[in-house]
Amino acid sequence: MLRPAKPDLYLLIILLTLVCLCVCDISDWQSTSTVHKEAFTDEDLDFLVFGDWGMNGQDPATHKFLQKAVADAMEICADEHDSKFVVNVGDNFYKGGKYDYQGVQTVDDEKWNTIWLDVYNGAKLSSINWYTVAGNHDWYNNVSAQIDYSLNKNNRFYLPALFYVRRTSFGPKNSTVAWIHIDTNIFFYDEATQKAKGMFGNFEIMGWDRDGAVEEKLKWIEDRLVENQDAKWIFVIGHHPLIGDCAQRYRMKELIPILDRHRVTAYFAGHNHVLEFLAPTRWSRFAQFISGAGSRTSKACEGDDWVSAKGTVGFLHVRISDKSGKMVYEFVDATDPSIEGGTQVFNGSLTNRPYWYPK
Ligand SMILES: *[C@@H]1O[C@H](CO)[C@@H](O)[C@H](O)[C@H]1NC(C)=O
Ligand SMILES: *[C@@H]1O[C@H](CO)[C@@H](O)[C@H](O)[C@H]1NC(C)=O
Ligand SMILES: *[C@@H]1O[C@H](CO)[C@@H](O)[C@H](O)[C@H]1NC(C)=O
Repeated sequence: MLRPAKPDLYLLIILLTLVCLCVCDISDWQSTSTVHKEAFTDEDLDFLVFGDWGMNGQDPATHKFLQKAVADAMEICADEHDSKFVVNVGDNFYKGGKYDYQGVQTVDDEKWNTIWLDVYNGAKLSSINWYTVAGNHDWYNNVSAQIDYSLNKNNRFYLPALFYVRRTSFGPKNSTVAWIHIDTNIFFYDEATQKAKGMFGNFEIMGWDRDGAVEEKLKWIEDRLVENQDAKWIFVIGHHPLIGDCAQRYRMKELIPILDRHRVTAYFAGHNHVLEFLAPTRWSRFAQFISGAGSRTSKACEGDDWVSAKGTVGFLHVRISDKSGKMVYEFVDATDPSIEGGTQVFNGSLTNRPYWYPK
């Protein structure tokens, strides 16, 4: 009879099984080949973009960080325009208020209620999907728990993997929108900064400390963009911005030529707690939006075309038209909770895919 001679061996077998289970799960969490599809009959497709909201929830300190003010203005906007979803650019849960830890610890963390469900509790925002990417504060703790929560608890908080693709069709012409959701932490932080912030251990678990991990992810993004060239609109969503000096971190700026080459309509990000815009040019063809003022404010990236006044919290509201092939956008300032629905502070329009200027 085959029996391990020592209890140590049992332990080893259990450990190896656990390691295998972990590794298997981790590879699924990296990226998914499942494309999330949805179709709407409306002539226009309306959605909100914001991030960096996970501050304090319903804590008395809310007044300081204005998370609820933004939530209330977003609810009014989403309800009025029949917004179909929220594009959430990350930093979902901070340390602060009564919480002395970053991110969430588990799928049962009370922050899921106090910072998400209990705050965005209006009829509209609590019924539509939140298409999410992870920010650095999500990584400082258990980012896997956020994926697990999405897959097994509540997939309205949509984060099936760190990298994923969606395709939306809408309108009488059945226009297609491709959305490439990416995790920019791997491009933004080198080993030294990861170590300093205690993020490195989590990167190691994901295999993001390996040579070639960055190249692998860049290739994943490029492959997905190639596959989705038939779409009338292409949006890329990541946590960290690519405007001006903000792209000068580690490998971030390598994303710019990839997005350009594949004629991306726009890139949505957060991280800097501002509302900020960079228009497309002949040399960098995609538009850039930073909407990272979901609860607090900080400094902007240098090199923009427009930025909100210091101390502004708010969000981005976008509507794309099947008929005209245009995207109209407005940034909404929600700093003053006494102004219902907030105030439009900047707006404009774009065409669906940038023109091609061969270099
Ligand atoms: C992190 O989340 C994963 C997925 O839910 C879970 O398996 C793991 O136990 C969590 N880690 C800790 C330290 O709680
Ligand atoms: C619209 O496009 C989607 C996805 O491309 C497809 O599943 C659907 O059948 C199309 N609907 C019509 C009416 O053509
Ligand atoms: C910007 O907003 C103003 C005021 O609401 C409106 O008149 C104008 O048409 C808007 N511009 C675009 C491009 O939507």
